[in-house]
Amino acid sequence: MGFQRRTHTCGELRPAHIGQTVVLNGWVNSCRAHPDHIFLDLRDRYGLTQIVIDDTHPEMLAACQDVRSEWVLCVRGKARERLPDKHNSKLATGDIEVVAEEVTILNRCPTPPFEVMSIPKEGQTFADTEQANEDLRLQYRFLDLRRPTLQRTLAMRHRLNKVIRDYLDERGFLELETPLLGRSTPEGARDYLVPSRVWPGQFYALPQSPQIYKQLLMVDVNDKYFQIARCLRDEDLRADRQPEFTQLDLEMSFVEMDDVLSVIEGLTAEVFKRCIGATIPLPLPRIKYADAMLKYGSDKPDLRFGLEIVDLTEFHRESSHEQTRQFVERGAVIRGLVAKGAADKFSRKKLDEIKDYCKRLAQGEHLEVWIDAAKVQSDVFGSLFEKFLTAETRQAQRQRLGAEPGDFFLIIGTSKEEVTAQAMGMARNRLAADLKLVNPTTKDFKIVWITDFPSFIWDEDEKRFAANHHPFTAPMDEDLANLESAPGTVRAKAYDLVINGYECGGGSIRIHSPEVQSLMFKMLGMSPEQARQRFGFLLDALKFGAPPHGGIALGLDRFAMMLADTTNIRDVIAFPKNQKARDLMTGAPAPVDAKQLKELGL
Ligand code: AMO
Repeated sequence: MGFQRRTHTCGELRPAHIGQTVVLNGWVNSCRAHPDHIFLDLRDRYGLTQIVIDDTHPEMLAACQDVRSEWVLCVRGKARERLPDKHNSKLATGDIEVVAEEVTILNRCPTPPFEVMSIPKEGQTFADTEQANEDLRLQYRFLDLRRPTLQRTLAMRHRLNKVIRDYLDERGFLELETPLLGRSTPEGARDYLVPSRVWPGQFYALPQSPQIYKQLLMVDVNDKYFQIARCLRDEDLRADRQPEFTQLDLEMSFVEMDDVLSVIEGLTAEVFKRCIGATIPLPLPRIKYADAMLKYGSDKPDLRFGLEIVDLTEFHRESSHEQTRQFVERGAVIRGLVAKGAADKFSRKKLDEIKDYCKRLAQGEHLEVWIDAAKVQSDVFGSLFEKFLTAETRQAQRQRLGAEPGDFFLIIGTSKEEVTAQAMGMARNRLAADLKLVNPTTKDFKIVWITDFPSFIWDEDEKRFAANHHPFTAPMDEDLANLESAPGTVRAKAYDLVINGYECGGGSIRIHSPEVQSLMFKMLGMSPEQARQRFGFLLDALKFGAPPHGGIALGLDRFAMMLADTTNIRDVIAFPKNQKARDLMTGAPAPVDAKQLKELGL
């Protein structure tokens, strides 16, 4: 028999098929060969089926003796019930097996560098069995992609895209494409540049996002646009960052913030429902940036646990400890949090790690830092932060913290508010992880909007303001008057979507007045000539009747991470780069021929 098209998939056969002759195509997952019979599991995207080759066909039995894992077979045979003690409840096809009548070897495979899929032992899940080293898996990604977990994730990404397209199509959005070869769009990272052969010495930039193009689409009459867009950013990689990633990019005109948020809320609820059956209560909560920084020490707070941070600076203004008083007078910000009933749950080592991290953070900025962490006890005030307070203040501080005996407290003070906030935020996440406050088995999604971001951040290296989101973000109307006089106080009409501590989207209402846009460029340190040279086309477009508009981009890889319940972005991308931006399978980036370089004038 040569190749025959399958009659069923490897995940399809059930007791109802017993007695039927079937044809299966697939890969050998595992093979146990004996002189008088062979058991092998045949695998495809849909599942596994056990095949039995017995001595009723001696030639076939002999020919299959050297079949190994990952060989590609076509098997024709009859489905029968497994022996009573051989049913496998872990497999959907575990009640049946197929007794082979004909086997064709379609392709062979050398011993794979890792086991693609092992059947879980008692008490294990499929996830427990997939332990091969990630670099090796990335190098042989074509094999790794045969793993059921990755197969499920890719199918889920397909569904994610489909749900998005259906949802937005039903609401009148047009899916439009924007160029990959364009001019640099500043989104805060370095560009990947493409040299032009036709124009030696000149470069295209690959898009960090379709930001400017989508705004230009609003200037014509496309009032509802979206695109599932590839974006490229040359930035330092982290577990949730890739140099090339995918956004759902969306823009609308004649809208305000609530209009954009409402589309995305509906879409998010639909995605969670249709991809993993989870219900997301709407409307989503909103937290202002300043409150998020105070309470959670982060603009992407994980709200699956409490551990809320409180400000304690005032309590120490009158400390009897001279140095503390002076520290506060010099502008120190002191904040703390309490972990309920956790007094005995920390080893000294863990505490020291947290303290060291906070110290490094503060020292990196050459700041004075005070850290105190201990058990809350009823009568002993060993802690520096309590010892020098009056009984009344001590009581008030405990009340603010909600501290009771048996709790654990952590207090950090530094001479810079952002650093105290950031250190507390990091400590909060670390404590939650140590205390296992997030239950990994319940799928809990805490989705929140962060709003009221500052328009600018101070760039200490360049000694100038930089855009917190991007230079096209509109300032709040009430802050517009302060754009030149007090840029540090200006808030933006910007919003981020945060899921379980991950920034999964960000957007804003845009500047549609050419005058305000020019002023914004000026505030970012651009001369009128520089602004015209880089963004003249945008300023012109704004002049030619740009409507008020705004939008957002969702990080689809991060959305997929949430849906697939992983903290590693590489788990949800078919062909990801490693942490050093290298494709271990193809070897990219790689040198090119001198001839190619010469053609490009490089
Ligand atoms: P922003 O830069 O915030 O906004 O990006 C939007 C979302 O894209 C995701 N993201 C990434 N995901 C993986 N790897 C990366 N390197 C990476 N960088 C960003 C995040 C982020 O929230 N043009 C604006 C959007 C707008 O204003 O409409 C923009 O790109 O989930």
